[in-house]
Order: sequence, then C-alpha cells, then structure tokens
Amino acid sequence: MKETVNKALLWRYATKVFDPEKILTKEELHPVLDAMRLAPSAFGLPIWKAVVITDKSLRTKLRAAAWNQPQVTDASHLIVLAVRKHIDEKLVDAYIAQMAKTRNTDIESLTGFGDMMKGFIRSKDAGWIREWAARQTYIALGFALETAALHQIDTCPMEGFDPKQFDEILGLDAQGLESKVIFAIGHRSNEDTSALAAKVRLPDTEIFIGMN
Ligand SMILES: Cc1cc2nc3c(=O)[nH]c(=O)nc-3n(C[C@H](O)[C@H](O)[C@H](O)COP(=O)(O)O)c2cc1C
Repeated sequence: MKETVNKALLWRYATKVFDPEKILTKEELHPVLDAMRLAPSAFGLPIWKAVVITDKSLRTKLRAAAWNQPQVTDASHLIVLAVRKHIDEKLVDAYIAQMAKTRNTDIESLTGFGDMMKGFIRSKDAGWIREWAARQTYIALGFALETAALHQIDTCPMEGFDPKQFDEILGLDAQGLESKVIFAIGHRSNEDTSALAAKVRLPDTEIFIGMN
C-alpha cells in the first residue's frame, strides 16, 4: 500500500495535454468525487460544492476565462470547486439536522455543538470567514488529485482562471457560490512531454524541520 501510494504520487503530474478522445465513465469518475465528499472540513461543515462539467461549448467559454489553457476543453471533465458565500447560522442548523438524522440522535443533544459553531462564526469578520471557507476547498482538491493518481487518472489543478467570469458563465452567484479552484481530469495525451520531466522538489532536509 505504502509503495502503491508513493508510485502513484510519482506517476502523477499536472497534466498539460489531455487526450480528448479518452472520456472517463461515471464509474471511473466516482471514486475521485467520493474522495472529495469524504475529505475533512472544519467542524465537518459542508462548505463547498463542485460543478462537474463535460459540455464542450460551455468549456470553450470557460477556457477563454482561464488563460486559454487547453486542459479546460480537452480533458474528459472539468471540475470547479466553489465555496458557499453564506457561512451562517442557517448552514449550521442544516448541518446539525443532517447530523441528527445520520446518527439517529435528538437534535437537542447537538445544540451545544451548534451553538459553539455559531459562536465561532460570529466571532470572526466576513473576510476571515471567506478565506477560511476557501481553504477547505483545497483539502478536497488534494484528496481528488491523490485518489485520481491511485486510479491512474490524470489531473491538472488550476488557479489560472478568472473566478468572477467563471461565476458569471456558470451562474454560481445565483446559487450562493463562488469558484475558488478548478481541476481538469481525464487521461494524458502521448504527446504531453511534461509527463517525462523530473519532479522538482526540495529535499526532506529543506522542508521538514526537526527531522535531521
Ligand atoms: C493551487 C494550484 C494552482 C495551479 N494552477 C495551475 C494552472 O493554472 N495551470 C497549470 O498548468 N498548472 C497549475 N498548477 C500545477 C502546478 O504548476 C504543479 O502542480 C507544480 O508545478 C508541480 O508539478 P507537478 O504537479 O507536475 O508535480 C497549479 C497547482 C496548484 C496546486
């Protein structure tokens, strides 16, 4: 297992050229989406949603708002991670209700936890909450990239896009969402020479303090 994970992490790279003919089935995509769903988040709050896009004409529009990066149109799917704009008491109440239902417990027994989350949210300013919420999406992104690699599926995480334009094209604003990070997913083209480039990373000694 240890070796499999390491092999997968060395195999993966931020794919620059996808093979547009290689389309992932729902079954192939499912483990990656499920890994995102199972990713941790602060308090477990459902802070983000993901838009899964196949439509080529929609992706052509998005590509123009993403530095014209070919991965946007050529990968099997494009996934947009979007964060909720309203991290508020209503969201906490909905989450508490979901927890009570899932764990078959009284909602009253969860009042303390709910109040604690509400108090935490109230104690921060809106800008801090937005940043905090945005960070949660990157945990899901990491889970997706690693899971994809374990299934020999290629990905390219991307911040090279204009979130405002994406929100407009995808109508995210009306859904109370704003895009934060995207990734393309599919299979690499044989012509992607960046697949052959050695990974550039610092040695352990320059990253991990206290491990000498
Ligand atoms: C948050 C984030 C944003 C990124 N944005 C882009 C992007 O817009 N376009 C791109 O081709 N690669 C993008 N990358 C990929 C990185 O350049 C790549 O992960 C890094 O160079 C390390 O290479 P490797 O992933 O192939 O090992 C991004 C990576 C991350 C984590």
